[in-house]
Amino acid sequence: MDEQKKTAGLRGFSAGETAICTVGNQAAGLRYYGYDIGCLAQYASFEEVSYLLLYGELPTTAQLNGYISRLKQGRGLPETLRLALEQIPATSHPMDVMRTACSLLGTLEPELDFAQQQQIAVRLLAIFPSIMCYWYCFSQTGKRIDCASQDDTIACHILHMLAGKPPNAMQQKAMDVSLILYAEHEFNASTFTARICASTLSDFYSSVCGAIGSLRGLLHGGANEASLQLFACCDTPEQAVARVMEKLQQQEKIMGFGHAVYKNADPRSAQIKHWAKLLSEQAANGHYFVMAEAIEQWMQQHKNLFANLDFYSALNYHFLGIPACLFTPLFVCSRITGWSAHIMEQRQHNVLIRPAADYIGIAQREFIPITQR
Ligand SMILES: CC(C)(COP(=O)(O)OP(=O)(O)OC[C@H]1O[C@@H](n2cnc3c(N)ncnc32)[C@H](O)[C@@H]1OP(=O)(O)O)[C@@H](O)C(=O)NCCC(=O)NCCS
Repeated sequence: MDEQKKTAGLRGFSAGETAICTVGNQAAGLRYYGYDIGCLAQYASFEEVSYLLLYGELPTTAQLNGYISRLKQGRGLPETLRLALEQIPATSHPMDVMRTACSLLGTLEPELDFAQQQQIAVRLLAIFPSIMCYWYCFSQTGKRIDCASQDDTIACHILHMLAGKPPNAMQQKAMDVSLILYAEHEFNASTFTARICASTLSDFYSSVCGAIGSLRGLLHGGANEASLQLFACCDTPEQAVARVMEKLQQQEKIMGFGHAVYKNADPRSAQIKHWAKLLSEQAANGHYFVMAEAIEQWMQQHKNLFANLDFYSALNYHFLGIPACLFTPLFVCSRITGWSAHIMEQRQHNVLIRPAADYIGIAQREFIPITQR
């Protein structure tokens, strides 16, 4: 392997220290502040997990109750933001809406002092679902939904706003688990973007806007939306596998497969698959699950590639009745917790992140004045 290939994408290089999360390259597997992701997904709520990420410890009952009330209070949209959301074209990508709204909120409720950082993190966690659902419902139907619901959980709040009625227990848990699994993942591209921005001592909102921009890409958060397209126009597992083979023949990547860090399996995949399967038993397009398993099996056998979190998350969201264009914004609603944790950690031991580059261009050239070129 030549030097260029070795450093491509900084794969395998450590770019700093963190006490927040371990991923697959550590013997521990995926843990948030030392807690195994499987246990968190099974026994904790997203509110507990987000508290853990923002404050470094799991909450007591009293702390959790106080935190939930603050989250509920933070759901409301300032009037200027609400009116601005109504002006954004219905054809916009919802990730652009999230980025724009975050930026605007930064002018309405600016971070004047880093001492406000936790408060801003809680506000963004509380308000992102409102931004996403308000804009989506208004742009699709002209309806102005009420975002200040009294639902106790973020999962319920999101599903309630989108469907106009509260979800059942299974739907709520499936959404909750998905938010837990998406919450944090060490130095992934969007989190690293946030840390780079924070390392310049920029404000919280700028760091989050940068992270949203990185998450939008197909190779990162955009994969969950893109992977649902595999199922469109297919009715059988055979057709779905044929579609995958066709894409591979055209040198296309299969969205929802492979990972930059994990090499054998994504520990989050089995968790979300479990909920996608349960939901599929009651869903209109339940047969998508069988097609997904056929694709997963074929990719493993023929390409030695495994399904990552995005593959079954796409189905999970689809079975919950969520439009595909909101899959990646939902990722924002969850990952704001990890981004916030990393921005705060970066600030705590800050050193400007400024790597060097290996120059591969022309060594030296003589300047020719414009009139002689
Ligand atoms: C995530 C991703 C960018 C990681 O890429 P990476 O670090 O280069 O992955 P690897 O080095 O393990 O790739 C090994 C080989 O498998 C191929 N590969 C990896 N993921 C693939 C996919 N989803 N579809 C087809 N081929 C894939 C690579 O092209 C590479 O082939 P090569 O050796 O012939 O060049 C890549 O897997 C990908 O694009 N996946 C689809 C997007 C996605 O699901 N993103 C969400 C990640 S959570």
